[in-house]
Amino acid sequence: MTGAPPSPPADLVIVERFIEATRDSGYKSTPSAVAELVDNALDAGAARVHVRVAADHDDPDLPLTLSVQDDGHGMTPEVMQRALGFGGSTRFNQRGGLGRYGMGLPNSSVSQARRVTLYSWVEGGPVRRTWLDVDEVATGGVRAVPAPAEAQLPPQAPEPRGASGTLVVWTRCDRLDNKRPRTIARKLMIFLGRVYRHFIWRGVELLVNDERVVPVDPLYLAEDSRTQGGRPFGEPLEVELAATSGGSGVVTVRFTELPVARWHSLDNKEKRRRGVPGGAGISVVRGDREIDYGWLFVKKRKENYDDWWRCEVRFDPILDEHFGITHTKQQIRPSAELLEAVEFNMDAMAKMLNGRVRRAYLKAKGAGAPKKLPPSAPPPTNQAERGDAQGVTWEPLRPNSQIQYERTTNVTVSELRRATTKASSEAQHESERRIIERFVRSLFADLGLGLQ
Ligand SMILES: Nc1ncnc2c1ncn2[C@@H]1O[C@H](COP(=O)(O)OP(=O)(O)OP(=O)(O)O)[C@@H](O)[C@H]1O
Ligand SMILES: [Mg+2]
Repeated sequence: MTGAPPSPPADLVIVERFIEATRDSGYKSTPSAVAELVDNALDAGAARVHVRVAADHDDPDLPLTLSVQDDGHGMTPEVMQRALGFGGSTRFNQRGGLGRYGMGLPNSSVSQARRVTLYSWVEGGPVRRTWLDVDEVATGGVRAVPAPAEAQLPPQAPEPRGASGTLVVWTRCDRLDNKRPRTIARKLMIFLGRVYRHFIWRGVELLVNDERVVPVDPLYLAEDSRTQGGRPFGEPLEVELAATSGGSGVVTVRFTELPVARWHSLDNKEKRRRGVPGGAGISVVRGDREIDYGWLFVKKRKENYDDWWRCEVRFDPILDEHFGITHTKQQIRPSAELLEAVEFNMDAMAKMLNGRVRRAYLKAKGAGAPKKLPPSAPPPTNQAERGDAQGVTWEPLRPNSQIQYERTTNVTVSELRRATTKASSEAQHESERRIIERFVRSLFADLGLGLQ
């Protein structure tokens, strides 16, 4: 006991500094910050969400404004006030919708703008307005969200007011990715088209500067998509995982390949227009919303050939802990258990698809196409001898025929057959075995070896 007087309680958060510090909270881009507002609109049951970006603010140094208006259920004054506070969620840790942290609205807003104004109206009520201003908070003058007061919708509103809804306006935008509204709008179109493709297909109307956002299907399968021309590769892979909170959820993985033979000779501009170069990646979708896109779950190094196949990993929000969702919802950090469940298969698929693209390229260019083997010997009568392993049936080949595979390894047919049968029998999961079998089938088919 020193007898020293107890020190006075200190604030847990020094608001003036926190607001500046949190501006760096790490959205990958302006579109990913805007997505937080779209998430909120969709969680509020909106059928139409309109994003507007323009250089129409009277501050000559920071003229850009960005607004998002929705026709969702709107907010009461109490909810509005809470909504602009950090941590003010009405759905903390719920999994039914998109939001769950109570950070998205204020965090994304201050990451792009010095001021955010919130307008909202519930059915039968007036439009009310409140705001959060970085400078007012940082100078120590304001420590709470002002009480919402009745107001008119501002000129930035992209739509006339409906029965209920919300409008969020970012002004004095000092951190948008680009200076030209047209550039920002173009990027938003593509990004939102991909992130919310499943919502748009379900009938949600999403607009940027009066233009409808067209879905972007990274699998190149959907008819209603900017990107088309792919075809599915193999059956979808389904893995059920136990959720940490009890119960279980399903992860579904789908692969597609792009038409190398038809598209390889397009000029670079056209290939870029179709999103091929640099487009390699795996789209991770939580519920209906894409939360990450990148070189994920695959150990092999990324090569240019990998631009020619695509993959979607879709999971149930109950599995959030396995995917390691962060509060900005734009990145995942897979758990060891999730990796164990899918990495082997996905890596094998990635290698297989890479090999197929490589061979399709060589074939299409007419150079170095894989050699065909001489005609095979008559089929043996004994089923075991035919190599009918694990459902894969291949035509008998001469045991010592040489296969030139990817020009790096010389293996004999029987070596290849032995290796794949062994790998197949050692596979720990049914899905692993299916992958190996698919690999063998595709390899043999590509080499023109007459596998059925
Ligand atoms: N467009 C909107 N329409 C209706 N209510 C909204 C809207 N935007 C925000 N809200 C309300 O404000 C609260 C805070 O929104 P915020 O985005 O900060 O957090 P959240 O969506 O709950 O969680 P997350 O941090 O995961 O986004 C929401 O829980 C919701 O009640
Ligand atoms: Mg939110």
